[in-house]
Amino acid sequence: MDRLSTGIRKLDEMLEGGIPRGFLVAITGEPGTGKSILCQHFAWRGYEEGDKVIYVTTEESRNSILEQAELLGMDIRKGVEEGKVIVIDALLATDEWSLTSLDPEALVQKVIDAKKKLGYGRARLIIDSLSAFWLDKPAMARKYSYYIKKVFSKWDFTILATSQYAISTSEAFGFGIEHIADGIIRFRRSVKGGRLRRFLMIEKMRQTNHDLRMYEIEIIPGKGMEIIGPAEFSKEDYALPKKVMERIAEARRKSESEVP
Ligand SMILES: Nc1ncnc2c1ncn2[C@@H]1O[C@H](COP(=O)(O)OP(=O)(O)O)[C@@H](O)[C@H]1O
Ligand SMILES: [Mg+2]
Repeated sequence: MDRLSTGIRKLDEMLEGGIPRGFLVAITGEPGTGKSILCQHFAWRGYEEGDKVIYVTTEESRNSILEQAELLGMDIRKGVEEGKVIVIDALLATDEWSLTSLDPEALVQKVIDAKKKLGYGRARLIIDSLSAFWLDKPAMARKYSYYIKKVFSKWDFTILATSQYAISTSEAFGFGIEHIADGIIRFRRSVKGGRLRRFLMIEKMRQTNHDLRMYEIEIIPGKGMEIIGPAEFSKEDYALPKKVMERIAEARRKSESEVP
């Protein structure tokens, strides 16, 4: 089976070598957890391997994506200048490679135009984010997700599609995507010891005996995303709340047994 490297060596190992060619993988998580950075690694590796790369950005401008990648040691801009990478900007740009509305059909048309421009061969498509295309009509999530998957299955794309979680409610806008996705990589965050920590977990990858653990990750200037190791829960994080829970349960049992 042909697998595409994610651009992060350790993540590839966790995936038996990478993402199976032709898959659509959903990348979910709260803001600032590393979704776009993973997309940038996937795009950069595509360029390095001679794949055609199309990156659709809805929440940041094309320039913002290219700048962040550069600060993390990935010269995706070079790929754009060489005509091997196309970044479709759905936020700011008004040039040939922009989208003026977040309409799934316009997205499909633009991506197909880009693929024709890049030519034949193995291709990577990144849609960051896909959920943006139905933010104002969440009931359409599943229908649009099916549509996107079906249309692109005819083209030689391996797809990363991000979706976001509403911070306040932990509600996912990405339900539609997760149901049709061949794989799900979920990012999480927490504050431990007064510091923001980020985690990654492969929740689903068809045809793959993938790693099942949650891993802590770091974003390193000049290098990008690195996977530190399986998340460890210290006694402070884990044992104390558990003890408290047991005490509460015990107290409840006692009070209930006292009820005549
Ligand atoms: N050059 C950098 N050096 C260190 N950390 C960075 C750098 N660029 C971005 N980050 C970290 O990555 C976060 C953004 O990650 P990103 O993948 O864009 O998030 P999202 O999940 O919202 O797409 C920033 O909030 C910051 O913590
Ligand atoms: Mg992002």
